[in-house]
Amino acid sequence: MTAPPLLSVRDLHLHFTTPEGDVHALRGVDLDVMPGECLGIVGESGCGKSQLLASLMGLWARSAAPSGVIHFAGQDVTQASPRALQALRGRRIAMVFQDPMTALNPHLTIGRQLTEGVRHHLHQTAAEARARALELLHAVHLSDAERRLRQYPHELSGGMRQRVVIAMALACRPELLLADEPTTALDVTVQAQILALLRELRARFGLTILLVTHDLGVIAQVADRVAVMYAGRIVEHGTLADVFTAPAHPYAQALRLASPTLDTARGAHLAAIPGQPPDLAQPIRGCAFAPRCTLRTARCEQESPALAEVSLGHSAACFHSDQLRNPMRPGNTE
Ligand SMILES: Nc1ncnc2c1ncn2[C@@H]1O[C@H](COP(=O)(O)OP(=O)(O)OP(=O)(O)O)[C@@H](O)[C@H]1O
Ligand SMILES: [Mg+2]
Repeated sequence: MTAPPLLSVRDLHLHFTTPEGDVHALRGVDLDVMPGECLGIVGESGCGKSQLLASLMGLWARSAAPSGVIHFAGQDVTQASPRALQALRGRRIAMVFQDPMTALNPHLTIGRQLTEGVRHHLHQTAAEARARALELLHAVHLSDAERRLRQYPHELSGGMRQRVVIAMALACRPELLLADEPTTALDVTVQAQILALLRELRARFGLTILLVTHDLGVIAQVADRVAVMYAGRIVEHGTLADVFTAPAHPYAQALRLASPTLDTARGAHLAAIPGQPPDLAQPIRGCAFAPRCTLRTARCEQESPALAEVSLGHSAACFHSDQLRNPMRPGNTE
């Protein structure tokens, strides 16, 4: 019998009330994440990746109204009390933010920041927390751990700070690690080291990881499965091989063709995706990708396609998946 998902999201919507009107940032996200897997989430800027991760921890702006279901280890995050959320965040679900400088307090030593979480959540003594902090710095391969504890964030390089942020996230042995563009601010060599570290920590601690990035090359290095987001929805979901070699949504195909990291090495021509993503402050009719889609038909402009399975474990929200996967078939003439 297969284990139930660790995280299960159904029809998640997120509306923001702004002076300019309603912004519909998440428009019905469905997602299952199995224990121990690494799921990569890709999509253009503004498609809702960060809002999705924040929602999984129950972190919403005052102007935000979430609805839908987020089941994590038996609780519904959208219905959880502030107290239950406090117990979940940092303890069972932890987040690594894109910019380590914003995640670290410039006025506190690394030691203080590393020990705070364990003292608060695990009620450890100062000595126990210090021992745990050293253990964590060793786990993320930061040399000279004793000295690092006394240093301030500005005394470390960007790569070292990102290791500290990852150590902080791991402090209370979370089951789920949410990583929002954890390598974007780093040069390629350090990026490769951090990705190797995530792979190692995942294997060592049995972590489940959700990794947000705009870089398909990063996904290809660490993820087992990938979810492609477009305009607040997941439009394709499957294994790396499914989504990258047999995409079933025209946006996923366009992303792949536009990805330098995946295709230039093979000499493929890089194609920009023409047009702009839709304005989430305006109502969207039909498929949100239709205005940019070469397979668009009248139906796409009227109806929004549901995420449906195209093969075992591979789903896409497109009326023309068949045509994309089997280009020799006659086109849809609607
Ligand atoms: N407080 C807010 N009020 C109104 N709209 C918001 C607010 N926060 C986010 N949004 C909108 O929600 C949408 C999703 O934002 P989000 O930050 O999740 O995008 P993203 O995919 O993470 O983009 P990026 O790749 O640039 O980080 C955007 O259109 C953004 O403008
Ligand atoms: Mg973001």
